[in-house]
Amino acid sequence: MMEKDKFKIQGLGREKFLSGKIKVNGAKNAVLPVLASCVLFEDSFVAKNVPAIEDLNRLNEIFVDLGISMKEINTGEYFVNAENIKSHEIKEEAAKKMRASIIFSGPILARFGKLIFPHPGGCVIGARPIDIFLEAFEEMGAKIELKDEKYFIEVKGAKLKGAEIFLKIPSVTATETLIMAGVLAEGKTVLKNVALEPEVTSLIEWLNQCGAKIKGAGSAFLEIEGGSLLSGKNQIYQTIPDRLETGSFLILGALCASDLEICNCNPKDLEIIIELLKDAGVDMIVSKNSIRVNCKNRKNYKAFNIKTHEYPGFPTDLQSPMTVFLTQAKGEALVFETIFEGRLNYIEDLVNMGADIRMWDSHRVMVKGPRKLKGKELEGPDIRTGFAFVIAALVAENESMIDNVYYIDRGYEEIEKRLSAIGAEIKRIKN
Ligand code: EPU
Repeated sequence: MMEKDKFKIQGLGREKFLSGKIKVNGAKNAVLPVLASCVLFEDSFVAKNVPAIEDLNRLNEIFVDLGISMKEINTGEYFVNAENIKSHEIKEEAAKKMRASIIFSGPILARFGKLIFPHPGGCVIGARPIDIFLEAFEEMGAKIELKDEKYFIEVKGAKLKGAEIFLKIPSVTATETLIMAGVLAEGKTVLKNVALEPEVTSLIEWLNQCGAKIKGAGSAFLEIEGGSLLSGKNQIYQTIPDRLETGSFLILGALCASDLEICNCNPKDLEIIIELLKDAGVDMIVSKNSIRVNCKNRKNYKAFNIKTHEYPGFPTDLQSPMTVFLTQAKGEALVFETIFEGRLNYIEDLVNMGADIRMWDSHRVMVKGPRKLKGKELEGPDIRTGFAFVIAALVAENESMIDNVYYIDRGYEEIEKRLSAIGAEIKRIKN
């Protein structure tokens, strides 16, 4: 693990520009649940276009504990085999490092009728409760006990029962977890007010491709007919392009590229970002699988308000990169983070760099632009803010140092190489 690595970044200021082509990788948040879905399989399957990110190593640690094997057979192509799965316990060490470990809870409980897991960890973006998961498991017939900070969950008769469940918040991982629980439950499970994120739709399509019976993909209501273990014989999952990486590159290009082509992406998954940037005056050409963007109109960018929302609204994951954009746009903008508390805890660093941002409360800030940014020492508290700091450092004059880039490595594959290839001066300093 590259826990203490740093990035040294030379700011481009107003005179230097990025240019060239950058390829978007497979979506972390799509492939993690799909790989975890192997618990529902009697055999194995192959996943392609898998990004080489730190979270994949964390997932593999959980696989090893459970008795699942994962092998890279070609670059970005993994063979996952759950034939010898033996354990129903998610170990504390792995779970603390990755919140997505919670995704295993549904399929493990559905397969074994029992489950032990600790409260999950992950990025530092506020309290992240798991009440929706626990209440739903109870509705499906499970009994839950909390002992020594571990949940011990058991189902009478070892088989989850289909139930009608209303999600009080359309949580992404809760939706994915409960879909997978429903696939092996007895009878029909109805999920209402589910998350609509493209990663959820991709998971549903994958499970259906392998024999699951899930109706309603892309809508807020899902109906799942429970059945037996799935088979992955000759099945290949093709990871969808990462819409959050696409959005991050788009914002970067809008701020510092003379001509950047973002390829292998699906612009349809980030219409809100494209519309807002176009309205602000960003010059871009959107094609089916690529976006070409430049910063030629940068002096005339107009500010706009953002309010984070579940898909297809403004993604919370692009809130911090977009706030960096707003520091360079003319006028006042309100940034309202509605999904997570603690996801504005990077503002002070941007202010130290020269941004004019006033904090209203823990969910709202007012950004006044444009302001010149100066390079500083920074430390990203989560994946997306880590990348937002990379953008800020590139926009700035002088040099910046970003500490603990482990958070960036969790979600962005070899970002320093990919950014260097389009003209950025960014160096990893190993510790
Ligand atoms: N929530 C509850 N109770 C629960 C579950 C969630 O109150 O039982 C709340 C959360 O505290 C939050 C809201 O529901 O306020 C929405 O959170 P959600 O559960 O949708 O987030 P998540 O599933 O934990 C996924 C992504 C995040 C992304 C969010 C929001 C994965 C593995 N993670 O998290 O991605 O920010 O959805 O879209 O899919 C990232 O990639 O960097 C990342 C953090």
